[in-house]
Amino acid sequence: MSQPPLRPADPVRPSFPDWMQGVQAQVDAALARYLPPGEAIPGRLHQAMRYATLSGGKRVRPVLVFAAGVLTDSASERLEVVACAVELIHSYSLVHDDLPCMDDDVLRRGRPTCHVEYDQATALLVGDSLQSLAFEILARADFGDSRRQLEMVRLLARASGSCGMAGGQAIDLEAVGQPLNQPELELMHALKTGALIRAAVLLGALCGTALTTTERDALDRFAKRAGLLFQVVDDILDCTASTATLGKTAGKDAAAEKPTYVSLLGLQRARELAAELRQQALVPLATFGERSQRLVQLTDFITQRRF
Ligand code: IPE
Ligand code: IPE
Ligand code: MG
Ligand code: MG
Ligand code: MG
Repeated sequence: MSQPPLRPADPVRPSFPDWMQGVQAQVDAALARYLPPGEAIPGRLHQAMRYATLSGGKRVRPVLVFAAGVLTDSASERLEVVACAVELIHSYSLVHDDLPCMDDDVLRRGRPTCHVEYDQATALLVGDSLQSLAFEILARADFGDSRRQLEMVRLLARASGSCGMAGGQAIDLEAVGQPLNQPELELMHALKTGALIRAAVLLGALCGTALTTTERDALDRFAKRAGLLFQVVDDILDCTASTATLGKTAGKDAAAEKPTYVSLLGLQRARELAAELRQQALVPLATFGERSQRLVQLTDFITQRRF
Protein backbone atom coordinates (compact mmCIF):
# COMPACT_ATOMS: atom_id res chain seq x y z
CA MET A 1 0.00 0.00 0.00
CA SER A 2 1.40 3.40 -0.92
CA GLN A 3 2.18 5.79 1.94
CA PRO A 4 0.21 9.01 2.15
CA PRO A 5 2.43 12.04 1.53
CA LEU A 6 3.95 13.40 4.74
CA ARG A 7 2.99 16.93 3.82
CA PRO A 8 1.05 18.56 1.03
CA ALA A 9 2.90 19.40 -2.14
CA ASP A 10 4.98 22.58 -1.80
CA PRO A 11 3.11 25.59 -3.04
CA VAL A 12 4.83 27.41 -5.87
CA ARG A 13 7.39 29.88 -4.53
CA PRO A 14 7.35 32.80 -4.38
CA SER A 15 3.66 33.22 -3.58
CA PHE A 16 1.62 34.80 -6.37
CA PRO A 17 1.34 38.25 -4.69
CA ASP A 18 5.11 38.32 -4.06
CA TRP A 19 5.87 37.16 -7.59
CA MET A 20 3.51 39.75 -9.09
CA GLN A 21 5.00 42.51 -6.95
CA GLY A 22 8.46 41.50 -8.13
CA VAL A 23 7.42 41.78 -11.79
CA GLN A 24 5.68 45.11 -11.15
CA ALA A 25 8.80 46.52 -9.46
CA GLN A 26 11.09 45.26 -12.25
CA VAL A 27 8.84 46.76 -14.95
CA ASP A 28 8.39 50.06 -13.09
CA ALA A 29 12.17 50.43 -12.81
CA ALA A 30 12.69 49.56 -16.49
CA LEU A 31 9.98 52.00 -17.63
CA ALA A 32 11.62 54.74 -15.56
CA ARG A 33 14.87 54.05 -17.46
CA TYR A 34 13.26 53.86 -20.91
CA LEU A 35 11.28 57.09 -20.57
CA PRO A 36 13.32 60.19 -21.39
CA PRO A 37 14.23 62.20 -18.26
CA GLY A 38 11.96 65.10 -17.41
CA GLU A 39 14.85 67.53 -17.93
CA ALA A 40 15.42 66.46 -21.55
CA ILE A 41 14.00 68.90 -24.12
CA PRO A 42 11.01 69.16 -24.58
CA GLY A 43 10.81 68.94 -20.80
CA ARG A 44 7.07 69.41 -20.41
CA LEU A 45 6.26 66.59 -22.84
CA HIS A 46 8.75 64.23 -21.19
CA GLN A 47 7.44 65.09 -17.73
CA ALA A 48 3.90 64.39 -18.92
CA MET A 49 4.96 61.04 -20.43
CA ARG A 50 6.49 60.07 -17.09
CA TYR A 51 3.42 61.34 -15.22
CA ALA A 52 1.09 59.19 -17.33
CA THR A 53 3.20 56.04 -17.24
CA LEU A 54 4.87 55.94 -13.82
CA SER A 55 1.65 56.39 -11.92
CA GLY A 56 0.93 53.10 -10.24
CA GLY A 57 -1.17 51.06 -12.68
CA LYS A 58 -1.69 47.40 -11.86
CA ARG A 59 0.71 46.38 -14.65
CA VAL A 60 -1.53 43.43 -15.53
CA ARG A 61 -0.26 43.27 -19.13
CA PRO A 62 3.43 43.12 -18.08
CA VAL A 63 2.55 40.44 -15.53
CA LEU A 64 0.79 38.51 -18.32
CA VAL A 65 3.95 38.80 -20.44
CA PHE A 66 6.03 37.28 -17.62
CA ALA A 67 3.45 34.59 -16.81
CA ALA A 68 3.33 33.50 -20.47
CA GLY A 69 7.12 33.63 -20.58
CA VAL A 70 7.25 30.83 -17.98
CA LEU A 71 5.74 28.50 -20.61
CA THR A 72 8.74 28.88 -22.90
CA ASP A 73 11.56 29.40 -20.37
CA SER A 74 11.93 32.97 -21.54
CA ALA A 75 14.80 35.12 -20.26
CA SER A 76 13.77 37.88 -17.88
CA GLU A 77 15.67 40.58 -19.85
CA ARG A 78 13.63 39.85 -22.97
CA LEU A 79 10.37 39.69 -21.07
CA GLU A 80 11.20 43.05 -19.52
CA VAL A 81 11.56 44.71 -22.93
CA VAL A 82 8.31 43.22 -24.23
CA ALA A 83 6.43 43.99 -21.00
CA CYS A 84 7.53 47.64 -21.17
CA ALA A 85 6.54 47.94 -24.83
CA VAL A 86 3.05 46.59 -24.12
CA GLU A 87 2.63 48.79 -21.03
CA LEU A 88 3.68 51.88 -22.99
CA ILE A 89 0.95 51.17 -25.56
CA HIS A 90 -1.53 50.62 -22.73
CA SER A 91 -0.55 53.89 -21.01
CA TYR A 92 -0.92 55.75 -24.30
CA SER A 93 -4.38 54.23 -24.79
CA LEU A 94 -5.47 55.42 -21.33
CA VAL A 95 -4.23 58.98 -21.92
CA HIS A 96 -6.22 59.19 -25.16
CA ASP A 97 -9.21 57.32 -23.69
CA ASP A 98 -9.53 60.00 -20.98
CA LEU A 99 -9.46 62.98 -23.38
CA PRO A 100 -12.60 65.17 -23.58
CA CYS A 101 -13.20 63.96 -27.16
CA MET A 102 -13.33 60.37 -25.91
CA ASP A 103 -14.46 59.45 -22.36
CA ASP A 104 -13.79 62.89 -20.87
CA ASP A 105 -12.40 61.63 -17.57
CA VAL A 106 -10.66 63.75 -14.96
CA LEU A 107 -9.29 60.99 -12.70
CA ARG A 108 -6.91 58.13 -13.56
CA ARG A 109 -4.93 55.94 -11.19
CA GLY A 110 -6.01 58.19 -8.33
CA ARG A 111 -4.62 61.37 -9.89
CA PRO A 112 -5.82 64.04 -12.34
CA THR A 113 -5.77 62.68 -15.90
CA CYS A 114 -2.89 63.73 -18.14
CA HIS A 115 -4.84 66.43 -20.02
CA VAL A 116 -6.11 67.88 -16.72
CA GLU A 117 -2.65 67.97 -15.13
CA TYR A 118 -1.02 69.28 -18.34
CA ASP A 119 -3.27 70.20 -21.30
CA GLN A 120 -5.04 68.47 -24.17
CA ALA A 121 -2.39 69.08 -26.80
CA THR A 122 0.30 67.71 -24.48
CA ALA A 123 -1.86 64.66 -23.69
CA LEU A 124 -2.29 64.00 -27.40
CA LEU A 125 1.47 64.16 -27.91
CA VAL A 126 2.08 62.00 -24.83
CA GLY A 127 0.01 59.27 -26.46
CA ASP A 128 1.82 59.64 -29.78
CA SER A 129 5.21 59.57 -28.09
CA LEU A 130 4.49 56.60 -25.80
CA GLN A 131 3.35 54.62 -28.82
CA SER A 132 6.52 55.42 -30.74
CA LEU A 133 8.70 54.62 -27.74
CA ALA A 134 7.04 51.21 -27.42
CA PHE A 135 8.05 50.24 -30.96
CA GLU A 136 11.49 51.82 -30.60
CA ILE A 137 12.42 49.73 -27.56
CA LEU A 138 11.03 46.55 -29.10
CA ALA A 139 12.88 47.12 -32.37
CA ARG A 140 16.22 48.08 -30.84
CA ALA A 141 16.51 45.19 -28.35
CA ASP A 142 18.92 42.39 -29.22
CA PHE A 143 16.88 39.16 -29.19
CA GLY A 144 19.35 37.31 -31.41
CA ASP A 145 16.61 36.31 -33.88
CA SER A 146 15.59 39.22 -36.09
CA ARG A 147 12.86 37.28 -37.91
CA ARG A 148 11.13 36.46 -34.65
CA GLN A 149 11.61 40.03 -33.45
CA LEU A 150 10.02 41.40 -36.61
CA GLU A 151 7.07 39.07 -36.04
CA MET A 152 6.76 40.49 -32.50
CA VAL A 153 6.77 44.09 -33.80
CA ARG A 154 4.08 43.14 -36.32
CA LEU A 155 1.98 41.44 -33.65
CA LEU A 156 2.09 44.47 -31.35
CA ALA A 157 1.35 46.87 -34.21
CA ARG A 158 -1.66 44.84 -35.33
CA ALA A 159 -3.00 44.63 -31.75
CA SER A 160 -2.70 48.40 -31.28
CA GLY A 161 -4.10 49.70 -34.56
CA SER A 162 -7.42 49.96 -36.33
CA CYS A 163 -7.89 46.17 -36.37
CA GLY A 164 -7.09 46.07 -32.63
CA MET A 165 -7.25 48.53 -29.74
CA ALA A 166 -7.77 51.73 -31.75
CA GLY A 167 -10.48 50.02 -33.81
CA GLY A 168 -12.24 48.89 -30.64
CA GLN A 169 -12.12 52.44 -29.31
CA ALA A 170 -13.73 53.65 -32.56
CA ILE A 171 -16.56 51.15 -32.14
CA ASP A 172 -16.91 52.21 -28.47
CA LEU A 173 -17.38 55.84 -29.47
CA GLU A 174 -19.82 55.05 -32.29
CA ALA A 175 -21.85 52.88 -29.93
CA VAL A 176 -22.64 55.58 -27.36
CA GLY A 177 -26.39 55.54 -26.80
CA GLN A 178 -26.84 52.55 -29.12
CA PRO A 179 -27.93 49.20 -27.72
CA LEU A 180 -25.46 46.59 -29.04
CA ASN A 181 -26.30 42.90 -29.14
CA GLN A 182 -23.96 40.42 -27.46
CA PRO A 183 -21.84 39.54 -30.52
CA GLU A 184 -21.37 43.27 -31.28
CA LEU A 185 -20.41 44.02 -27.69
CA GLU A 186 -18.05 41.06 -27.63
CA LEU A 187 -16.30 42.32 -30.76
CA MET A 188 -15.94 45.81 -29.29
CA HIS A 189 -14.43 44.44 -26.07
CA ALA A 190 -12.25 41.93 -27.89
CA LEU A 191 -10.73 44.77 -29.86
CA LYS A 192 -10.50 47.68 -27.44
CA THR A 193 -9.12 45.64 -24.52
CA GLY A 194 -8.74 42.04 -25.63
CA ALA A 195 -6.32 42.67 -28.49
CA LEU A 196 -3.56 44.10 -26.31
CA ILE A 197 -4.05 41.47 -23.62
CA ARG A 198 -3.82 38.75 -26.25
CA ALA A 199 -0.66 40.38 -27.62
CA ALA A 200 0.89 40.48 -24.13
CA VAL A 201 0.37 36.73 -23.73
CA LEU A 202 1.61 35.75 -27.19
CA LEU A 203 4.60 38.11 -27.02
CA GLY A 204 5.62 36.75 -23.63
CA ALA A 205 5.63 33.21 -25.01
CA LEU A 206 7.54 34.35 -28.12
CA CYS A 207 10.45 35.43 -25.90
CA GLY A 208 11.58 31.83 -25.35
CA THR A 209 11.60 28.37 -26.92
CA ALA A 210 9.16 27.72 -29.77
CA LEU A 211 5.66 26.44 -28.97
CA THR A 212 4.10 23.66 -31.01
CA THR A 213 1.11 24.62 -33.16
CA THR A 214 -1.21 22.90 -30.69
CA GLU A 215 0.34 24.81 -27.80
CA ARG A 216 0.15 28.11 -29.64
CA ASP A 217 -3.53 27.54 -30.47
CA ALA A 218 -4.25 26.67 -26.83
CA LEU A 219 -2.45 29.79 -25.62
CA ASP A 220 -4.34 31.93 -28.12
CA ARG A 221 -7.66 30.55 -26.89
CA PHE A 222 -6.64 31.37 -23.32
CA ALA A 223 -5.51 34.87 -24.29
CA LYS A 224 -8.74 35.77 -26.11
CA ARG A 225 -10.90 34.60 -23.22
CA ALA A 226 -8.73 36.36 -20.63
CA GLY A 227 -8.93 39.60 -22.65
CA LEU A 228 -12.71 39.52 -22.80
CA LEU A 229 -12.86 38.57 -19.11
CA PHE A 230 -10.73 41.61 -18.25
CA GLN A 231 -13.17 44.04 -19.87
CA VAL A 232 -16.29 42.31 -18.51
CA VAL A 233 -14.82 42.78 -15.01
CA ASP A 234 -13.98 46.42 -15.88
CA ASP A 235 -17.65 46.94 -16.84
CA ILE A 236 -18.80 45.35 -13.56
CA LEU A 237 -16.38 47.41 -11.45
CA ASP A 238 -17.52 50.64 -13.11
CA CYS A 239 -20.94 50.16 -11.56
CA THR A 240 -20.06 48.37 -8.31
CA ALA A 241 -16.81 49.90 -7.00
CA SER A 242 -16.22 53.39 -5.59
CA THR A 243 -14.22 56.15 -7.23
CA ALA A 244 -11.78 56.02 -4.32
CA THR A 245 -11.11 52.30 -4.82
CA LEU A 246 -10.98 52.45 -8.61
CA GLY A 247 -8.80 55.57 -8.81
CA LYS A 248 -11.04 56.59 -11.75
CA THR A 249 -14.57 58.00 -11.76
CA ALA A 250 -17.08 55.25 -10.98
CA GLY A 251 -20.42 55.05 -12.75
CA LYS A 252 -19.11 56.68 -15.93
CA ASP A 253 -20.36 54.01 -18.31
CA ALA A 254 -24.03 54.40 -17.41
CA ALA A 255 -23.73 58.19 -17.24
CA ALA A 256 -22.18 58.26 -20.72
CA GLU A 257 -24.67 55.68 -22.09
CA LYS A 258 -21.94 53.23 -23.01
CA PRO A 259 -23.06 49.76 -23.97
CA THR A 260 -21.44 47.37 -21.47
CA TYR A 261 -22.00 43.82 -20.29
CA VAL A 262 -23.86 45.27 -17.29
CA SER A 263 -26.17 47.39 -19.47
CA LEU A 264 -26.77 44.41 -21.78
CA LEU A 265 -27.16 41.57 -19.29
CA GLY A 266 -27.66 43.18 -15.87
CA LEU A 267 -25.19 42.92 -13.01
CA GLN A 268 -26.01 39.39 -11.88
CA ARG A 269 -25.72 37.85 -15.33
CA ALA A 270 -22.55 39.85 -16.07
CA ARG A 271 -21.01 38.38 -12.92
CA GLU A 272 -22.04 34.88 -13.99
CA LEU A 273 -20.53 35.50 -17.40
CA ALA A 274 -17.23 36.57 -15.79
CA ALA A 275 -17.19 33.30 -13.83
CA GLU A 276 -17.91 31.35 -17.04
CA LEU A 277 -15.18 33.17 -18.95
CA ARG A 278 -12.71 32.42 -16.15
CA GLN A 279 -13.53 28.70 -16.45
CA GLN A 280 -13.30 28.81 -20.25
CA ALA A 281 -9.96 30.62 -20.09
CA LEU A 282 -8.47 27.96 -17.82
CA VAL A 283 -9.47 24.98 -20.02
CA PRO A 284 -6.79 25.41 -22.74
CA LEU A 285 -4.09 25.99 -20.08
CA ALA A 286 -4.32 22.29 -19.18
CA THR A 287 -2.13 21.70 -22.26
CA PHE A 288 0.78 23.26 -20.35
CA GLY A 289 0.34 21.48 -17.00
CA GLU A 290 2.27 22.96 -14.06
CA ARG A 291 4.02 25.50 -16.25
CA SER A 292 0.77 27.46 -16.56
CA GLN A 293 0.43 28.00 -12.80
CA ARG A 294 1.20 31.74 -12.98
CA LEU A 295 -1.32 32.22 -15.80
CA VAL A 296 -3.95 30.37 -13.75
CA GLN A 297 -3.24 32.56 -10.72
CA LEU A 298 -3.33 35.68 -12.86
CA THR A 299 -6.70 34.67 -14.34
CA ASP A 300 -8.06 34.44 -10.80
CA PHE A 301 -6.56 37.84 -10.00
CA ILE A 302 -8.25 39.35 -13.08
CA THR A 303 -11.59 37.79 -12.08
CA GLN A 304 -11.45 38.80 -8.41
CA ARG A 305 -9.75 42.19 -8.63
CA ARG A 306 -11.36 45.04 -6.74
CA PHE A 307 -9.99 47.86 -8.95
C1 IPE B 1 -8.04 50.01 -17.72
O1 IPE B 1 -7.02 49.08 -17.68
C2 IPE B 1 -8.53 50.16 -19.11
C3 IPE B 1 -9.06 48.94 -19.69
C4 IPE B 1 -8.55 48.41 -20.73
C5 IPE B 1 -10.22 48.31 -19.10
P1 IPE B 1 -6.35 48.65 -16.31
O2 IPE B 1 -7.43 48.28 -15.33
O3 IPE B 1 -5.33 47.61 -16.59
O4 IPE B 1 -5.67 49.99 -15.82
P2 IPE B 1 -4.35 50.22 -14.96
O5 IPE B 1 -3.20 50.12 -15.88
O6 IPE B 1 -4.30 49.20 -13.86
O7 IPE B 1 -4.51 51.62 -14.43
C1 IPE C 1 -10.70 51.55 -22.20
O1 IPE C 1 -11.93 51.08 -21.86
C2 IPE C 1 -10.02 50.72 -23.21
C3 IPE C 1 -8.79 51.37 -23.63
C4 IPE C 1 -8.17 52.31 -22.98
C5 IPE C 1 -8.23 50.91 -24.87
P1 IPE C 1 -12.64 51.96 -20.76
O2 IPE C 1 -12.94 53.32 -21.25
O3 IPE C 1 -13.76 51.18 -20.16
O4 IPE C 1 -11.47 52.06 -19.66
P2 IPE C 1 -11.55 52.89 -18.32
O5 IPE C 1 -12.75 52.34 -17.58
O6 IPE C 1 -11.70 54.33 -18.69
O7 IPE C 1 -10.28 52.57 -17.61
MG1 MG D 1 -13.26 54.20 -23.11
MG1 MG E 1 -12.60 55.20 -20.27
MG1 MG F 1 -14.21 51.09 -18.11
